[in-house]
Amino acid sequence: MSPFRRERPPVCLGPLTSFPEDVPKRIGNSPPLAILRHGDTVHVFEDRCPHAGAILSRGTLTGEHLTCPAHAATFEIATGRSLGPLDCRPLRTYTAWLEDGLLYRSPTPRPARKAHRTPCPTPQQIPDPG
Ligand code: FES
Repeated sequence: MSPFRRERPPVCLGPLTSFPEDVPKRIGNSPPLAILRHGDTVHVFEDRCPHAGAILSRGTLTGEHLTCPAHAATFEIATGRSLGPLDCRPLRTYTAWLEDGLLYRSPTPRPARKAHRTPCPTPQQIPDPG
């Protein structure tokens, strides 16, 4: 067996036209990912909230910020950064690009910055909105 790890090929996600503008669309199950077309940019990110696993594509999109439908953790889609009110680890994001009208993503997520890898609070630590 070779001591070198083989590079995995990019993953084709299909034609760009199958992803509506400004509506996160869930694809796949391992891992579940969400695709979001926003202007000229396409974002690919994990579709599972790092806090307790809610489906993020069912959340509320405000510009480039997506708020989880369960406990309102908000993430910056472009970077995956947690914006509060919970201090979650960042979302895993993937590099996406277009080739001949087809959308591709990198086989592995972008590396997260170490400073953003703090654990999410437990449900008991969630601040009371009232
Ligand atoms: S599951 Fe998303 S904020 Fe709790």
